[in-house]
Amino acid sequence: MEGFATTPKAPALFDVYDTLPLDIVSGAGVVLREADGREVLDFYGGHAVAVLGQGHPGVVAALERQVRALMFQSNLIPLDVRERAARRLLRFGPPGMARVFFVNSGAEANENALRLAFRVTGRPRVVAVEGAFHGRTAAAGAVTDGGGGPGREGAVGGLPRWYGFPQRPFPVTFVDFEDLVGLEREVQDDVAAVIVEPVQGVAGARAMSTTFLRAARDLTRRRGTVLIFDEVQCGMGRTGYPFAAQAHGVTPDVLTVAKGLAGGFPAGAVLAREEVASRMGHGDLGTTFGGGPLACALVEAVIDAIEGEGLLENVRRLSDRMRRECVRGPVESVQGMGFLLGLRTRPEARWVLAELRGRGILAGAARDPHVVRLLPPLILEDAHVDRLVEALDSMPAEPPGKEMP
Ligand SMILES: Cc1ncc(COP(=O)(O)O)c(C=O)c1O
Repeated sequence: MEGFATTPKAPALFDVYDTLPLDIVSGAGVVLREADGREVLDFYGGHAVAVLGQGHPGVVAALERQVRALMFQSNLIPLDVRERAARRLLRFGPPGMARVFFVNSGAEANENALRLAFRVTGRPRVVAVEGAFHGRTAAAGAVTDGGGGPGREGAVGGLPRWYGFPQRPFPVTFVDFEDLVGLEREVQDDVAAVIVEPVQGVAGARAMSTTFLRAARDLTRRRGTVLIFDEVQCGMGRTGYPFAAQAHGVTPDVLTVAKGLAGGFPAGAVLAREEVASRMGHGDLGTTFGGGPLACALVEAVIDAIEGEGLLENVRRLSDRMRRECVRGPVESVQGMGFLLGLRTRPEARWVLAELRGRGILAGAARDPHVVRLLPPLILEDAHVDRLVEALDSMPAEPPGKEMP
């Protein structure tokens, strides 16, 4: 069968990721294990997904129970586990959110949030923020900062950049980060939605201020515009509060969540106020897998663990420690919130990340080439922070040979 044989080395997956030289085969809690037995401390958390780390007993038990009881049924069949998960999520979410629509991912959640805003307002335009990342599908990609050419139109060298789509499906205007004057100018009566990440993740853990978020709330209310908080990355306890909305005391009209929602099982959700949700009728939204029983059982288990194990308090306390103690070695300052932190590094973050990996610590990169992103599981302990601090302490401020004269 010459020509058809595949060797173990033949690539089978699309080569679209800048993969890391790690061979992870298992994990327990915050520790990952490589095939050769080497342990890696996980400050990356599967890109903010593994909120309870690996093998959390509550997650394992809930999954086992549900898989034996009922593995899948569509949204046409009402399920108690789906209703329970929605009620649990609303109790965990900011006051004022009344309904949940379950989906499968962050991009899908944002796609539907924008659809709600167009439907409710009948307006065509969206205002987003410089540095934003909202996903790779058509609408979510349109409100993601393409980081490209003039006016941030997303055009690089004349080529459209919206993840390969030839054009945006609707007009989008970007305002600068925390630019209240720009926001006031842009949010006119043709704007359906303002979409923000209260803590920008991919951009490098940039936290928006309470002042900006409150002003955005007041302005959108006055102009009849839907305010969307994308808490796909910063939600589910990562800020030290259930959602950043609660940390700031600002409730949007629509809130999106995914990543850690089911602790590693694919799940996303759109939460909305009643005034928004009640505008949608039969057939207006839909999904095959969203709201499946396995995901819903895990949504409950994850929230139970976050609340029952005091993890919000743990995030706040250890985040304060990391802010105080990580400014050493190559790190100049720390930004972000809770367990979505950015270590601003003097040398390129790439070098710091490789040095950390050499010391058995996995952390994340960001779009900002001088930010190391920390997104650890919420079950992190003092001993893990000790190891991170020791690792940073043992590193030079600059790569050897690159010291400042
Ligand atoms: C803030 C934010 N929104 C949306 C997304 C897209 O989520 P997904 O990859 O699940 O589609 C991401 C992914 O990193 C994100 O960080």
